Amino acid sequence: MLDDKMRNPFELLKLTRRKKIVPTKSFPDEEGKGSGEQQSSSKLEGWIIKLEQSVNVLLTDSVIKVLDAFYHDRSYARFFVLETIARVPYFAFMSVLHLYETFGWWRRADYLQVHFAESWNEMHHLLIMEELGGNAWWFDRFLAQHIATFYYFMTVFMYMISPRMAYHFSECVEKHAFETYDKFIKLQGDELKKLPAPEVAVKYYTGGDLYLFDEFQTARPPHSRRPKIENLYDVFLNIRDDEAEHCKTMKACQTHGSLRSPHSYIEDTSDDDSGCVAPQTDCEGIVDCMVKSVSSPDVDVKRVSRD
Ligand SMILES: [Fe+2]
Ligand SMILES: [Fe+2]
Repeated sequence: MLDDKMRNPFELLKLTRRKKIVPTKSFPDEEGKGSGEQQSSSKLEGWIIKLEQSVNVLLTDSVIKVLDAFYHDRSYARFFVLETIARVPYFAFMSVLHLYETFGWWRRADYLQVHFAESWNEMHHLLIMEELGGNAWWFDRFLAQHIATFYYFMTVFMYMISPRMAYHFSECVEKHAFETYDKFIKLQGDELKKLPAPEVAVKYYTGGDLYLFDEFQTARPPHSRRPKIENLYDVFLNIRDDEAEHCKTMKACQTHGSLRSPHSYIEDTSDDDSGCVAPQTDCEGIVDCMVKSVSSPDVDVKRVSRD
């Protein structure tokens, strides 16, 4: 007989990820304590992870300095730039994963589903900032789009070489987004409560099918978060909480092969699981993919999924 924890897949998920994800409110303060390092068994790998994370922190701090210089007194324009940049890594991850599928190296439906849902969520953050006027100035659009273009190609390259590093970099960006919105609602909370919520926010958070809204939040069960949007404060509160969920998902991704769609746990408990085939093989980064494609030519690539 299964005990209660085994019957509930999210209890099981919590147990298996307990050492890999720092849940809920706070993020790790010290670099080098991410889930990637915990899985490291060798000194060399630990050193490489530290180097990757140090480079990521340096890059993130550089972008933050640019944003601070241009946007210390224009919050909505800053958020517009931030959200334009924020979607880019998910586009880059999906591009590389599609390339690997084309070559027959890697096929994991969960990663594509979750990354698309993440980009969908970030797109709605961007739409909200546009409705608030954050994109009114030509210079802000110019800067955001050029940083985003550079960031896209950088993330594609980084993701091919080291998915763990690319996911950690994205975690740093999401962490910065969380802190930015957290600071904003603490400073402007009273004013925000008097202002109406943009229509796009009301529609996204409260209307229609929320499948994609649940899909990017891999650390919680579907239907467990249903925002109430009554004013602009609620909107920023939920954007901040979204960023925290992205952060958890990016942290989980640093443990190779661990990401699963939150909906897949529900599917697993249903009687009909005939459409799901467990992955037989996979690869981590372009070097690993190329080595495996040469050394295991008969590799079974029919390892997806949920169609
Ligand atoms: Fe965002
Ligand atoms: Fe984000």
